[in-house]
Amino acid sequence: MCGIVGYVGGQSAQDVVVAGLKRLEYRGYDSAGVALLSDGGIAAAKRAGKLVNLEKELMERPLPAGHVGIGHTRWATHGGPTDVNAHPHLDNAGRVAVVHNGIIENFAALRGELAERGHDLVSETDTEVVAHLLAEAYSGGGDLAEAMRQVCRRLEGAFTLVAVHADEPETVVGARRNSPLVVGVGEGETFLASDVAAFIAHTRSAIELGQDQVVELTRDGVSVTDFAGRPAATRAYHVDWDASAAEKGGYPSFMLKEIADQPKAVADTLLGRIGGEEGELRLDEVRIAPSVLREVDKVVVIACGTAFHAGMIAKYAIEHWTRLPCETELASEFRYRDPILDQRTLVIAISQSGETMDTLMALRHAREQGAKVLAICNTNGSTIPRESDAVLYTHAGPEVAVASTKAFLTQLVACYLVALYLGQVRGTKWADEIRTVVRQLSEVAGSVQRVLETMEPVRELARSLADQDTVLFLGRHVGYPVALEGALKLKELAYMHAEGFAAGELKHGPIALIEDGLPVVVVVPSPQGRSVLHDKMVSNIQEIRARGARTIVIAEEGDETVVPYADHLILIPATPTLLQPLVATVPLQVFACELATARGNEVDQPRNLAKSVTVE
Ligand code: F6R
Repeated sequence: MCGIVGYVGGQSAQDVVVAGLKRLEYRGYDSAGVALLSDGGIAAAKRAGKLVNLEKELMERPLPAGHVGIGHTRWATHGGPTDVNAHPHLDNAGRVAVVHNGIIENFAALRGELAERGHDLVSETDTEVVAHLLAEAYSGGGDLAEAMRQVCRRLEGAFTLVAVHADEPETVVGARRNSPLVVGVGEGETFLASDVAAFIAHTRSAIELGQDQVVELTRDGVSVTDFAGRPAATRAYHVDWDASAAEKGGYPSFMLKEIADQPKAVADTLLGRIGGEEGELRLDEVRIAPSVLREVDKVVVIACGTAFHAGMIAKYAIEHWTRLPCETELASEFRYRDPILDQRTLVIAISQSGETMDTLMALRHAREQGAKVLAICNTNGSTIPRESDAVLYTHAGPEVAVASTKAFLTQLVACYLVALYLGQVRGTKWADEIRTVVRQLSEVAGSVQRVLETMEPVRELARSLADQDTVLFLGRHVGYPVALEGALKLKELAYMHAEGFAAGELKHGPIALIEDGLPVVVVVPSPQGRSVLHDKMVSNIQEIRARGARTIVIAEEGDETVVPYADHLILIPATPTLLQPLVATVPLQVFACELATARGNEVDQPRNLAKSVTVE
């Protein structure tokens, strides 16, 4: 977590850095700060709370002008969200300033050492030790990049560091281990940031930094080495979305914009992936040889949070279309239980950000055991795809709101494509069937649009429930992960008690929670095809209603059977069972967003959360 920006160029560094931090505030919003190189020294400002507090501070007490600067927006790990703990951190002489994302695991020992050598550390953070260590290392050689390399060799843990030194007024230095950092290269200016969103308004030319690399930025360019000082290879790429994609586009929140973006995001994720002569899938990016995929005897999906829910749905699709056994597991649990993996296991790691530490660690564990890893990711050049054997990118565009919406739908599309592709390669799915599903998938984009156009009653209902303490969600089959996702959205946005259950489990305990007037959202399976599932769900609705529940039923248009038992009916277009989550999730996103807004919560930046979770 935490967002970092660095700038060297001809513009006002404060303006560029603060604008970049705005784009990165999704990564953490506990405090923010900037440091500028100016008049032979360092001028810094930092404030607890959201970026607006820093902006206010900068208006009231402007910093001197500077063309080189660094900035930070924080998600607190070590030390509470106070002014003192906010970044940048400076050494005692005020000659070095540093910002950091990650956790320095050996900071306590380093702090002890520094104290013994007479350094006075004032914050509770792990970061501050780096400013002091850099100052010491710099005094030995007068070279900031070399000082950074020396310090990095002493650090344990995950870190992105960006630093400036008053004696090098035209330079910013960055370092990266296990945390994201990208370089932007403009005309006579260079940028460093946790995410390209921070500099996309200035340049779309980016350079990926690898693990354990140090980068030195000047106006004229960048040089990259490993921690030992050897020149390192990097990859330059072009960012293919523009600044407007990261703007709210007239919506009151990023979340509402991103919900509205979903039909396009779904369509974009399908684009160009069909069209072989036989109408077969063309997933050229999946660079795992078909011969290897044919040998796979087990699939394991790893992910966290919303992406995990996409993974749960992937299991149904993969097992149905490939007849391969598939497990879906929380990435944070995966490597700690000694899972059984070998060369014939295909691991699918799903991550919007591509930086989630739990997922990254799980995929590393899988590769160490010989498994092949395919990433499903929304962020080009991020760590998870880079460390995987292959990647299928979702084309959701930048997702800024902390609660995932369009990324989830596109993760589902990517999972369906992977499942079909595995079926195609392994011969369990034939071109005509694949064509049918792909056609159905393309139609789903239109269905999502129709759902979005009929959401006013859902918003009204959400507002009427703003005072409730609890909402339960029920689903069966692929509707079960949808229920979990609906509950997660409500928890994280509305700060309410919300639980999702497999409807069949209700009678084994949770039914005791049902009391008069309790809102229960029920995701009803399609009545077509798997009518047994549907009929069982209708019985479940009756059971809870008999015990006083206020039933909010999401069912397909034309499903008359549920009408008598629904206190509130939300209709969605008829969709094949396996694909139904793509449409059934949308009302739940709208419901959570509206209910949270009615409770006065800020939906784009829910409390305690961050968009990119780069700690375990
Ligand atoms: C919830 C949400 C999170 C993420 C999770 C994984 O709305 O967004 O649960 O899904 O933190 O993040 P990624 O997909 O970036 O690995």
